[in-house]
Amino acid sequence: MPHIKQYPTAPPAGYPVDLEEEIRLASGETLWVRPVVPADAAILAAEFAAADEDTLHARFFSRSFDLTEDRLRYLTELDYTTHLALAVMTVGGDESEGVAIGRYAARNSTDVEAAIVVKPEYRRLGIAAILVERLAAAASAAGRSTMSASYLRDNAAAARLLHQTGFSGGTLDGGAVIDVLRRLSGDPATIASA
Ligand SMILES: CC(C)(COP(=O)(O)OP(=O)(O)OC[C@H]1O[C@@H](n2cnc3c(N)ncnc32)[C@H](O)[C@@H]1OP(=O)(O)O)[C@@H](O)C(=O)NCCC(=O)NCCS
Repeated sequence: MPHIKQYPTAPPAGYPVDLEEEIRLASGETLWVRPVVPADAAILAAEFAAADEDTLHARFFSRSFDLTEDRLRYLTELDYTTHLALAVMTVGGDESEGVAIGRYAARNSTDVEAAIVVKPEYRRLGIAAILVERLAAAASAAGRSTMSASYLRDNAAAARLLHQTGFSGGTLDGGAVIDVLRRLSGDPATIASA
């Protein structure tokens, strides 16, 4: 598996350096978070190729995900406002290991849709919960008022994560995909009951 660079060389215009951050997990381990850049395309493709089928199914709702060049460009060439992705990696300079990725993409002028994937060996350490908060803060700062997310009905981890981080709603009509929403602005009481 190729390495991901902790610090991107020649980041693109608009790269939000203020979203770079060292995070400390409850386990004591320190990880690095930074916005995704186009130069991450190769490592992202390698991570996709190495990912297990269940993880890809949980993230993309399909067992036959085809990562085309166009799709790879879409996932890595971001404007950081309507489309933002944050990569989590080990602290290792040019030899960091990718650990997780979280992104949001605007669905309309008020809502962004978020999705997160964490490598199996790094789960249950609080990484996804941190990513949700960072994505929500960035979307709110970008003027969005809601964040939506979807997960497969049998994905208990995503259900717990999203409900614990303030998402609510969800169709209970027997459909395979559950859609939930989190308000990003307004009175906390409204957020809690949304
Ligand atoms: C869902 C996923 C992103 C969670 O990532 P994670 O980093 O393990 O989540 P966190 O450690 O931040 O967990 C936050 C909370 O979510 C819940 N949770 C996470 N994984 C869980 C699991 N396997 N079973 C039950 N609850 C779980 C827990 O309440 C947890 O808090 P706790 O550990 O204090 O009890 C991860 O399992 C994953 O990548 N799955 C495949 C892709 C996917 O399903 N994406 C969701 C679509 S948005």
